[in-house]
Amino acid sequence: MKSIKHVVLSVGLLLMLLLAAAGCSPNQTETPKEDDTKTTPNTEAAATYVGDDACKSCHDEASTAFHGTKHSEALQPISEFQLTGDLPEVELFDGADPDNTKPVKIDLSSAKLYGVMVNEYLLAEVPGFKSNIYRVAKLVKNGDKYDVQAAKSVDVDKDGTEDWQAADGTSCAKCHAPGVLVESPTLGVSCESCHGPGSAHVAAAPDKKKGSIMASPTSALPDTGTCLECHRSDPEKDDNGTLIANNHYGARNWFASEHARSGQLTGCMACHTPHKANAKGQLLLEDNAADVCAACHAGDNIDLEKLMWKNPTDPHNHITADHSFGAMKYEDMGDDPDTKEIEITNPAYVDLVKKAFPDLAE
Ligand code: HEC
Ligand code: HEC
Ligand code: HEC
Ligand code: HEC
Ligand code: HEC
Ligand code: HEC
Repeated sequence: MKSIKHVVLSVGLLLMLLLAAAGCSPNQTETPKEDDTKTTPNTEAAATYVGDDACKSCHDEASTAFHGTKHSEALQPISEFQLTGDLPEVELFDGADPDNTKPVKIDLSSAKLYGVMVNEYLLAEVPGFKSNIYRVAKLVKNGDKYDVQAAKSVDVDKDGTEDWQAADGTSCAKCHAPGVLVESPTLGVSCESCHGPGSAHVAAAPDKKKGSIMASPTSALPDTGTCLECHRSDPEKDDNGTLIANNHYGARNWFASEHARSGQLTGCMACHTPHKANAKGQLLLEDNAADVCAACHAGDNIDLEKLMWKNPTDPHNHITADHSFGAMKYEDMGDDPDTKEIEITNPAYVDLVKKAFPDLAE
């Protein structure tokens, strides 16, 4: 733990210096860094989204590396997928409006398509429907090609046969296709999903570039694309009111970790980088996860497999590496292994959750 103390000390020192520079008293540690407060007004008021291509000419290295990451592939054009047939004409029912039992005929080959999220759902506009963005179809692997099927099959008009329902995709788009919702030329996760709209920065004179865009998105401004906004770590309640650990977002139980609670780490960036994938395609600072830990825990006995446990019953087990780093151990959760959710019934953990998320205490 020697090296940890070093980190703790130097971070502490840095914080004191920063606070002194900003003229804050030490109990105001939540105050955004100077940089962020400065950039907020001009980026938010005037700037619009210009898309990733607009960053490339000056940030070529970051742009090239970014395009090998999962973020940049969050939404892919349908042309990236070899289909077994043509995109069909279909009769769609509006999943966002259950009272509407009148279908709309739409030819998917000429519809306004946004792209495919998680290599599975085709997102598109459906003129005349209630919502702005729908999961109109699902791509299902068939050999090395894909069949196009209904995103959801429901007997909407109660005639005894299943109908092709377009599922509302607005909530999914918030994280999987944020560019669609803000009318950016880049429809998936882009530089601006984290840094905020960039037009003012692009237009700024060379000596005014610094400070004209959010430099450090994770440090403040919780509503402008921090990691946790998409990679939520909070548990949820199931239909019975039981707390369940949230598997979907990839940073499960981060809130409970010593890393998060000690306030001594630069958040997710202590181990990750958003700008470049490692040799294994992961957004980690090192090729081997153990080396990431060794930067601060050299000599500590860390069993990564055990600490970053995966939900043994999750069908997508790769999205569930636990981020509580031992603060919430699987064997202590009180999980019912017969369900695919992870129930949290251990009273000590339930307490921990309710303290962190008062909303869940009711
Ligand atoms: C015309 C060139 C140019 C373009 C285009 C450009 N940048 Fe920059 N960017 C710069 C320069 C120059 C700096 C300042 C470097 C320095 O002084 O440290 C900078 C700095 C930044 C910073 C750090 C800001 C700070 O206050 O430290 C971020 C983040 C950034 N750019 C993101 C982007 C994004 C995202 C885009 C595309 C929307 C973009 N840039 C487009 C030239 C450009
Ligand atoms: C997933 C969120 C995310 C995405 C996407 C992202 N960044 Fe960043 N960027 C950050 C964070 C967080 C920082 C703060 C520095 C750090 O800790 O790495 C940062 C820092 C920067 C900086 C200033 C410091 C440095 O590392 O040079 C520049 C310039 C920058 N980003 C440009 C870009 C460009 C260009 C893109 C798109 C090609 C991009 N970023 C995509 C989160 C992101
Ligand atoms: C709050 C943000 C957020 C919302 C809302 C959201 N997702 Fe996700 N989703 C994510 C993140 C982040 C990941 C990646 C996690 C990882 O890589 O570990 C993900 C992963 C996935 C995966 C990949 C699972 C796998 O193993 O292949 C699927 C499928 C998925 N999401 C579908 C959806 C659908 C459908 C919706 C809308 C009903 C949706 N998501 C809404 C953030 C979100
Ligand atoms: C102390 C180091 C560390 C910190 C801090 C950290 N992570 Fe991770 N994260 C890892 C490691 C190591 C992996 C790879 C786990 C694996 O491959 O099994 C990972 C994997 C992931 C994954 C992919 C999930 C998977 O199972 O493949 C996502 C998404 C993620 N982290 C998001 C985040 C976010 C968001 C934060 C901040 C809230 C964060 N991480 C903070 C170390 C860290
Ligand atoms: C706008 C939403 C959004 C934001 C903001 C965001 N992510 Fe992601 N992230 C995603 C989605 C969506 C995926 C899954 C992409 C896919 O597989 O389709 C993902 C995937 C990842 C992965 C897994 C990649 C892998 O190796 O499998 C990591 C790690 C990750 N994000 C870290 C971060 C970090 C760190 C930040 C903050 C700097 C961040 N993300 C901010 C949406 C977001
Ligand atoms: C940037 C430095 C840094 C990195 C990188 C880092 N840690 Fe930590 N870690 C800390 C600090 C600081 C603490 C909290 C202070 C303490 O408990 O000594 C901590 C605490 C922990 C704890 C709780 C220790 C305890 O005694 O309760 C575990 C477990 C842990 N880290 C595992 C990991 C793993 C696994 C990785 C790699 C995926 C990692 N850490 C990467 C700095 C780091």
